[in-house]
Amino acid sequence: METFPADLSNRDDVDRVAARLEDESRPVDLLVNNAGFGMHVPLTQSDVAPHDLGFEVMCRTVLVLSGAAARAMRTRGHGRIVNVSSIAGMLAMGTYSSIKAWVTSYSEGLSVELQGTGVTVTVLLPGWVRTEFHQRAGIRASSIPNSLWLQPEQLVSAALRDVDRGKVISIPTIRYQVLAGLLRHAPKSAVRAVSGKISSSRKTPVNS
Ligand SMILES: NC(=O)c1ccc[n+]([C@@H]2O[C@H](COP(=O)([O-])OP(=O)(O)OC[C@H]3O[C@@H](n4cnc5c(N)ncnc54)[C@H](OP(=O)(O)O)[C@@H]3O)[C@@H](O)[C@H]2O)c1
Repeated sequence: METFPADLSNRDDVDRVAARLEDESRPVDLLVNNAGFGMHVPLTQSDVAPHDLGFEVMCRTVLVLSGAAARAMRTRGHGRIVNVSSIAGMLAMGTYSSIKAWVTSYSEGLSVELQGTGVTVTVLLPGWVRTEFHQRAGIRASSIPNSLWLQPEQLVSAALRDVDRGKVISIPTIRYQVLAGLLRHAPKSAVRAVSGKISSSRKTPVNS
């Protein structure tokens, strides 16, 4: 087992990880781009630094590392890339939604580019998962019904099953597959209304 510490908001660190992924003497067969964080930041805020950080870690890093892994895996004729997006990418909840929409769209595009190479791309769209995510972002999570929370282990097993099947879009649990179907087909005005309700329910940052 090898550990490779890196700050994925630092481009030199990202380049080191990319070089490691392309090192043919120590092949990596599965890349999971999981690093990310919640962003409860108004789009009208004059300081765009939090948005830049989100683009850097959750878009640019995903692009650079997926590209590096894909080149090496394509040469070997096999490999798996998993990018962690979110159901939030189907909503209109500020920069976080925009970033996750990009991750989903980018991953689908990459899967098209890699068709027939033996390399698969799976984009994972989780719903709410019990991790440190909400607390770290100062997001109030107490308004989320208990029935909507997923345990990380449950999410990971379902996602890995989808990766094994070569699924491009993985939405673990029937609950969230139904919700995603509704979001896909509902009028955009309804999706914006739901997004506004969820955003306002998070307004008071507390430790929950
Ligand atoms: N939890 C949810 O409800 C939920 C729902 C949908 C999607 N997601 C997505 O799931 C992914 C994982 O989040 P999580 O729920 O597991 O949240 P988490 O418990 O807060 O974990 C976030 C992970 O990202 C890493 N990370 C953040 N910034 C980094 C950086 N600059 N360099 C290297 N690593 C960095 C953290 O590393 P350190 O611990 O070292 O800081 C940590 O391992 C994210 O992409 C998130 O957007 C989460």
